[in-house]
Amino acid sequence: MNPLFHFPEISTARLRLRQPRMNDADALFSYRSRDDFSAVARVPRFTHKWEAEAHIFTTLQGYYQQKKVCWFIELIDGSPVVGSVSLLAMKDDSIGSSHRLEISSEISPEYRSKGLATEAKKAIISWAFLVFPSLRRIHSEIAASNTASIHVNEKLGFQKEGRLRAFEAQEGDVVVMSFLREDQTEPNKALVPKPTAQL
Ligand SMILES: CC(C)(COP(=O)(O)OP(=O)(O)OC[C@H]1O[C@@H](n2cnc3c(N)ncnc32)[C@H](O)[C@@H]1OP(=O)(O)O)[C@@H](O)C(=O)NCCC(=O)NCCS
Repeated sequence: MNPLFHFPEISTARLRLRQPRMNDADALFSYRSRDDFSAVARVPRFTHKWEAEAHIFTTLQGYYQQKKVCWFIELIDGSPVVGSVSLLAMKDDSIGSSHRLEISSEISPEYRSKGLATEAKKAIISWAFLVFPSLRRIHSEIAASNTASIHVNEKLGFQKEGRLRAFEAQEGDVVVMSFLREDQTEPNKALVPKPTAQL
């Protein structure tokens, strides 16, 4: 069965990664509109609630088109949405059949530096290599100034591959980082999360 036939809800030690819902717009807007959100070109700050609604709508559309899977992150003991992690197909690929995917994440400012992005990304990477046999590579393109995001990927074992000079109009240089199937270590393989929804 297609692993995306049902939305792949995933639980980790501290987090529940679940499908976005239109009624998450208030929670998403409340952290994405904060002055301290530290927005980047690919993860912009919102100034109107309709931007959060449109974001959730296009995110769900991407899932049904098999182009993007975005998990909204809640704390396992109950909380509003505190962030998200996404896997994206490139160009004309679809998520399930591609040998390469992009990963990105965002966490509400008040929940940062607690290891949540690292925990969520680690779970998604393990899940993706488990359920997509043709997947070989997961990569991120990160503004060179976004040291927190680069550090998250370093903790996960991503390797820096190069620097796209003046790639973004505002942020300038972008660093490309990747993690290959063969970069998984034994402990990582053992950390495959138990899906809570039928795959
Ligand atoms: C990048 C982001 C998702 C990280 O989320 P997070 O939950 O804070 O990440 P983690 O706690 O798992 O790890 C962050 C690490 O970076 C460190 N860090 C935090 N701010 C930092 C900074 N300015 N420079 C360097 N390292 C920093 C933290 O101490 C932590 O490292 P440690 O575990 O060794 O102490 C979050 O900062 C964010 O949402 N930023 C805005 C959106 C964004 O840039 N998304 C990425 C797009 S590519």
